[in-house]
Amino acid sequence: MKSHTTLVLLSIISYLLIATQARKQIPTAAAAGKSWVRTIVRGSENITQLHFYVHDVRAGENATLYRVANSSITATSPTSFGLVNVFDDLITAEPDINGEQVARAQGTSTSADLVNQAIAISMNFYITSGEFSGSTVSIAGRNPVTEASRELPVIGGTGAFRFARGYAVTTTYLHDSEANYSILEYTVYVTYSNVALCM
Ligand SMILES: *[C@@H]1O[C@H](CO)[C@@H](O)[C@H](O)[C@H]1NC(C)=O
Ligand SMILES: *[C@@H]1O[C@H](CO)[C@@H](O)[C@H](O)[C@H]1NC(C)=O
Ligand SMILES: *[C@@H]1O[C@H](CO)[C@@H](O)[C@H](O)[C@H]1NC(C)=O
Ligand SMILES: *[C@@H]1O[C@H](CO)[C@@H](O)[C@H](O)[C@H]1NC(C)=O
Repeated sequence: MKSHTTLVLLSIISYLLIATQARKQIPTAAAAGKSWVRTIVRGSENITQLHFYVHDVRAGENATLYRVANSSITATSPTSFGLVNVFDDLITAEPDINGEQVARAQGTSTSADLVNQAIAISMNFYITSGEFSGSTVSIAGRNPVTEASRELPVIGGTGAFRFARGYAVTTTYLHDSEANYSILEYTVYVTYSNVALCM
């Protein structure tokens, strides 16, 4: 009898915990007043830090991520192996989705690990506002989506970011599985130079 009561209590508590988490409010800007772009000059090279929020809307009239393909084992695979998505996600400087667009995240993600939850991601950050408007930063790498902090390589860039190299660190700022909506926080470190070859 006693252990039954304990079990019921535990289920109620875990239900409440989950319900509270699902209703988690979007906190106001963590870095209010701080620019989303910061550059330091080091000799002929510059290092730019980009800090922004990517809005992953997977359902509804404003969806920006769509499924492209499945493999024959996607449905039975514990990691949805072979699932391919394409996305064109809004990027804002602040967490609020109604904030001004500063860039887009455009690319594909493929569930590419048979054992662990990890995707092979290929995407371009297309900057649409500010001093780097029109430039792109390209990312390609392994994203272990369930880990708290994920690191991705910057493999190149265009415009101001020619000769780019660097890395990006991403964390999940908000995940609402019911609404199929996530906000991903990114900090990107890009080193680049405009030194032309003297030929
Ligand atoms: C879709 O976007 C429009 C324009 O921003 C907005 O008015 C509408 O509420 C959005 N719909 C949903 C389901 O979020
Ligand atoms: C992928 O599989 C799911 C069910 O397993 C199906 O609903 C969906 O239409 C498939 N999508 C594509 C693009 O094949
Ligand atoms: C979210 O995705 C799940 C699973 O793909 C689906 O069953 C559900 O209807 C979606 N929710 C919304 C609000 O579209
Ligand atoms: C680095 O930044 C300075 C100041 O904004 C700029 O004048 C210079 O052209 C930049 N160098 C590169 C390689 O982009």
